[in-house]
Amino acid sequence: MQHIYYKGTDETKPTLLLLHGTGGNEESLIGLAKEIDETANILSVRGNVLEHGMPRFFRRLAEGVFDMEDLIFRTKELYEFLQTSAQQYGFDRQRIVAIGYSNGANIAASLLFHYDDALAGAILHHPMVPRRGIELPQLSPTPVFIGAGTNDPMCTAQESEDLETLLSTAGATVTTKWFNFGHQLTMPEVQAAKEWYNSIYA
Ligand code: MLT
Repeated sequence: MQHIYYKGTDETKPTLLLLHGTGGNEESLIGLAKEIDETANILSVRGNVLEHGMPRFFRRLAEGVFDMEDLIFRTKELYEFLQTSAQQYGFDRQRIVAIGYSNGANIAASLLFHYDDALAGAILHHPMVPRRGIELPQLSPTPVFIGAGTNDPMCTAQESEDLETLLSTAGATVTTKWFNFGHQLTMPEVQAAKEWYNSIYA
């Protein structure tokens, strides 16, 4: 997968896996990651699917309606990419913390829904429930931050609440913070994510 890797300066920190929103690329979230932790390794990946020229991490049939077969295939592809990247760059495979926005948050959530050892933690900005009706792996004690929008037209409050319930039931420790700026990722949300991150990894 097309990506950027930066080696961090503090080996005690996790590796930040950056997953952009629809139409973004591997450059999009670098500034955000530096805001969260400028000393951690960064692995920033570009989604392999194109929708009218816009990179995404999996296909959708309509807005908010996911192509499940492709979601499962792309989730596995990303899972395997994490494995080979850890070997290539020499970072700890067991200590990857995803930071995803929108479509990137959805593939990060899908990693958590399908694998018990994909992520050591996740910051999900405006995620949805990637897939319903499956039993999740045991996620304990994976810490997850959800940045949700009370008035997000795309990733509704109900989706955020359902996602929190599903992940918590699977054993994850979920912290949800609410904002009222629609689907936008704003500085107050980034600051809340940073506080959460520092409480666990600093
Ligand atoms: C998705 O397709 O993953 C969600 O609708 C969010 C997005 O449009 O990126």
